[in-house]
Amino acid sequence: AALLHTTAPAASTPIKNVVVYGSGLMGSGIVQVAAQNNFQVTMVDLSPEMLNKGQGYIQSSLQRVARKKFADSETQQQQFIDEIMTRVKTSTDPMAPAESADLVIEAIVENVQTKRNLFSSLDAVAPRHTIFTSNTSSLPIARLAEATAPERVSRFAGLHFFNPVPQMKLVEVVQTPQVDAVVVDDLVNFCLALKKSPVRCKDTPGFIVNRLLVPYMMEAMRLVERGEATPEDVDTAMKLGAGYPMGPFQLADYVGLDTMKFINDGWFKEGEGLAGKELVSPSKTLDELVKAGKLGRKSGEGFYKY
Ligand code: NAI
Repeated sequence: AALLHTTAPAASTPIKNVVVYGSGLMGSGIVQVAAQNNFQVTMVDLSPEMLNKGQGYIQSSLQRVARKKFADSETQQQQFIDEIMTRVKTSTDPMAPAESADLVIEAIVENVQTKRNLFSSLDAVAPRHTIFTSNTSSLPIARLAEATAPERVSRFAGLHFFNPVPQMKLVEVVQTPQVDAVVVDDLVNFCLALKKSPVRCKDTPGFIVNRLLVPYMMEAMRLVERGEATPEDVDTAMKLGAGYPMGPFQLADYVGLDTMKFINDGWFKEGEGLAGKELVSPSKTLDELVKAGKLGRKSGEGFYKY
């Protein structure tokens, strides 16, 4: 009987087959980078139209890489792209690809229930060794992991990429209290195989980067609201005085003001260790811009016009 309760020490998982859920901005970037670095990848989305859009993002991004690499030969450019695309499959069926997945990366819509439903159904079909990850920016990883069986919870972590994925070097590997240390090591090694620079952090609101950046951008807005400087001067100051490539208002427009508001409001309401704190108190200007549909670069106007 004792044997039944003995579990072998967790072994490292060889990662070959990767399944990425969501073929949007982030998912398509993750698929591209994985395929470029010799992983077999399946990209899953709700409809063929969505998948086409994702493939389009990948094609045009690879096109840019290919043009630089093989400036004189269009044939070689096409060969380069075709060779990478041989490793990319697509599917509108979420279940079948999970049956042979070593690693699942979820990058679907930022909705806790939608994500939990997906993870719970994948858990039922994926092999025991499959590692589950989410690219969520704002949801606690533990809340998502809970939707799976206890054996999976120890193989469930955050894998937080940055936009645009092919260019941004960082990946935050997010650890819940339950995750197996070997799984975390496997994920760190996976990031290195993608030629990214992984960092490890705990499952707290905003992980590292957003935990520091969001309050900084919110304080920039409040500074302007207090009449202390203009957005333009704040941006110039942070670029030339702190060496940042973009000022906080340019960055907020780039991230999307609706996303900024969604994250900050969520933290102000119920962020662990953050709820009700001045650090994340709402900004009137941000609320008004979002209400007016001025969402930043993607809508043509935010703090600046594009
Ligand atoms: P997006 O809206 O560009 O793409 C989401 C895709 O998921 C869409 O194509 C949608 O059709 C698909 N989808 C929705 N439900 C699905 C389901 N049940 N099964 C399969 N596919 C489904 O969103 P984006 O920006 O790529 O964000 C995805 C995730 O990445 C979110 O969790 C977000 O928090 C996170 N993230 C976003 C960053 C950003 O800068 N946009 C940065 C880092 C993380």
